[in-house]
Amino acid sequence: MKRIGMLTSGGDCQALNAAMRGVAKTLFYSGEDVEIYGFLDGYKGLIYGKFCMLTGRDFSGILTKGGTILGSSRMPFKQMRDPDENGLNKVEAMKQNYYKLQLDCLVILGGNGTHKTANLLKEEGLNVITLPKTIDNDLWGTDMTFGFQSAVDIATTAIDNIHTTAASHGRVFIVEVMGHKVGFLTLNAGMAGGADIILIPEIPYDIDKVIEAIKKRHDRGSRFTILAVAEGAISREDAKLSKKEYKKKMENYPYPSVSYEIADQIQKRSGMEVRVTVPGHTQRGGSPCPYDRVFASRLGSEAGRLILKGEYGFMVGYRNREIVEVPLEDVAGKLKMVDPNSSMVKEAKMLGISFGD
Ligand code: F6P
Repeated sequence: MKRIGMLTSGGDCQALNAAMRGVAKTLFYSGEDVEIYGFLDGYKGLIYGKFCMLTGRDFSGILTKGGTILGSSRMPFKQMRDPDENGLNKVEAMKQNYYKLQLDCLVILGGNGTHKTANLLKEEGLNVITLPKTIDNDLWGTDMTFGFQSAVDIATTAIDNIHTTAASHGRVFIVEVMGHKVGFLTLNAGMAGGADIILIPEIPYDIDKVIEAIKKRHDRGSRFTILAVAEGAISREDAKLSKKEYKKKMENYPYPSVSYEIADQIQKRSGMEVRVTVPGHTQRGGSPCPYDRVFASRLGSEAGRLILKGEYGFMVGYRNREIVEVPLEDVAGKLKMVDPNSSMVKEAKMLGISFGD
């Protein structure tokens, strides 16, 4: 008999359900006696003992369903060791619920913050297997996370749709793409959507260079310019500030986000009309794309295989086109970022895309 606990934590994304279905199907089809408990709303469910038993029926028909059947929430790792408002020791509570249900293993689906807590639970002696989800694709130890390709599709469609209206009106358009810390989504959607300028956190931009790139296009007869700007795009000046200085600056920041600041600067200095489009959380919504359905199912299936073998303490990742097991301690606390010297950035530049640097 195997008793498995499952939870999805952090921001949701596409293919969470497909991944859980992959784990469950593999376990159920193995012929082994299996009980699966789903903890609700991420680590909260594990802390406060909110769970339900899941049967084959619960995993049926969810391959194509976005979101997560278990619900999710953000629980900052930094506060995990702090008692809750009623003095409850959250880590001890998670351990107690794990032991009370006599679990053999926890399957945890999440991104960066989630992996830090998953590793903490491993260090506390629990058996844990994780699966890498996030539209940001910023998890260390895996070339790809599920949710990313689906989000690239949505962000690309947003840029595609802006093209026609930008051309009609001869305007500058900024499409703000999700990603506060890393720019994989913006880089990929920007290239796929034919953006002229791509601004990502890893390459601080010089607003003069951005305006220069727009003017150059204009002088060459282009009526419009499209910028794909990551939520976390940062100017050269701001990138030089200390964390404290930057925080102080943001306290009185007059714009809803960086895209509006860039729009304002372009408009004031070039006289061109600028509009901002923010697809926002639509990038995390809807049905997973076929790539993510297959990818998440494969990762889930591998997680199931590891559980059947009793091998724990890994994130199931993907490297060099192979599904691999990465020790959790190698993943936790590390961020995978766009390398400004990567061939992809170089190729984008050769295609005439400006990064404002
Ligand atoms: O981590 C995924 C992500 O969608 C980021 O791209 C984005 O910056 C953030 O989550 C938004 O978080 P929330 O859903 O909490 O607003």
